[in-house]
Amino acid sequence: MQKRIFLRSTALAALSLVAALAHADNNTFKIGLILPMTGPFASTGKQIEAAARLYMAQNGDTVAGKKVELIVKDDTSAPDVTKRIAQELVVNDKVNVLAGFGLTPLALATAPIATQSKTPLVVMAAATSSITQASPYIVRTSFTLPQAAVGIADWAPRNGIKKVVTLVSDYGPGIDAEKYFKDRFLFNGGQVIETLRVPMRNPDFAPFLQKVRDLKPDAMFVFVPSGAGAALMKQFAERGMDKAGIKLIGTGDVTDDDILNSMGDVALGVVTSHHYSASHNSPLNKKFVEAFQKANNGLRPNFMAVGGYDGMRVIYEAAKATKGGSGDALLEAMKGQIFESPRGPMFIDAQTRDVVHNIYIRKVEKVGGQLYNQEFDTIKDVKDPGKTK
Ligand code: DHB
Repeated sequence: MQKRIFLRSTALAALSLVAALAHADNNTFKIGLILPMTGPFASTGKQIEAAARLYMAQNGDTVAGKKVELIVKDDTSAPDVTKRIAQELVVNDKVNVLAGFGLTPLALATAPIATQSKTPLVVMAAATSSITQASPYIVRTSFTLPQAAVGIADWAPRNGIKKVVTLVSDYGPGIDAEKYFKDRFLFNGGQVIETLRVPMRNPDFAPFLQKVRDLKPDAMFVFVPSGAGAALMKQFAERGMDKAGIKLIGTGDVTDDDILNSMGDVALGVVTSHHYSASHNSPLNKKFVEAFQKANNGLRPNFMAVGGYDGMRVIYEAAKATKGGSGDALLEAMKGQIFESPRGPMFIDAQTRDVVHNIYIRKVEKVGGQLYNQEFDTIKDVKDPGKTK
C-alpha cells in the first residue's frame, strides 16, 4: 500500500512537470527570481532584486511581443526552501527561467530541478567554481572565487607580502578562495603559514583574529560572503591588527560596495581583486550607478547588483532570440553572449556556461569623502581557473 501510494505520487509529480512544460502560457515570459530577502544574507537579495527591476525599467517589460513577468520569492537562504520554491515555480507558475541564487548551497540544492524540468537556471550571485557543473542548464553571470583569488595572489608577492595567513568562510566559495589563493601564492614564492576557516553563519571572528595576530604574518587573506565584511573589519580594527602592521588583502567580497562606506578609515588601503567596483571608470557604469542610486534612495550597487543586472540582460537577449522561448532553445541562446557590462567586457563561455570577464586589482581610497575600491590594474578576460584543468 505504502509503495503504491509512493509510486502514484512520483508518477503524478512527473506528470505535472510534463504538463507544466506543455501548457506554458504563450503570452507571458516568466522569470522566477529566488533570493534571500530576509535573514543574514538579505542584502544580496535586496541588491539583486533592485538591479533586476532597474533592468526592466530601462528595457521595457515586453520581449518578442510577450509580457515579462518577474516573480520574486524569498528563500530565507535555506537550501530546502530554495529547492521547493523552484519546483513550485516550474510546476505551478510554469516559469521560462529560474534565476537568483544568493549562496552556493542554494544553487546546488536547486540544480536537479533545472535538469529534470529542462529549465535554464541563471546564477546571479553564488560563486563556487563547481556550480555550473551541477546541471547542464546552469548559466552564471556572477563570478567565481578562483577567478577573483588568483589576481591578489599575483599582486601580493610583488608588493612585499611574503608571509600570509588565510581566513575564509567554511563552505564552497571560501574553500575555493583558500585553495586558489594558496596554490598561486606558493607558486609565486610566497608562504602560507596558517589556513583558518570560520563558520559561514554567525561567525565570531575574534578568536581567529587573535590567532592571526599571534602569528604576525605580513598579511591576512580573507574571503567572507557579501555583508559579513563589516563585522570582520570592525574586529580587525578593534584588535589593532592594522596598527600591528598586518595588512588585509582578499577577494573584493570583504570590501563590498554595499557596506564599504560605513567601515570607516580602517578600510583605507585594503587591496583586493574582484570583477566589479561601483567606481569602475566607464560611461556605462556611471549611468548604471546613477540610475540604481536614483531608484533606491542612494543605495550604492555592489557586485551582487551587477550579477543580477547582467543576468537579466542574458535572459532578455535569449528571450528575444527565441521569441520568448524556453527549455533547450532558451539555454542555447544564453550561451556565447558577449556584451559590455557595468563591470567591463563580459562573455558567457558556451562550453562552460560560466562568465569570462576582467579581474581588477583595487585599493580602498577616499574619493569625494566616500570610500571606494579604486581599480588600478586589470587582468583581462579571466576564465574560471577551476575549469581549465
Ligand atoms: C557566495 C556568496 C557571497 O555573498 C559571495 O560574496 C560570494 C560567494 C556563495 O555563496 O557562493
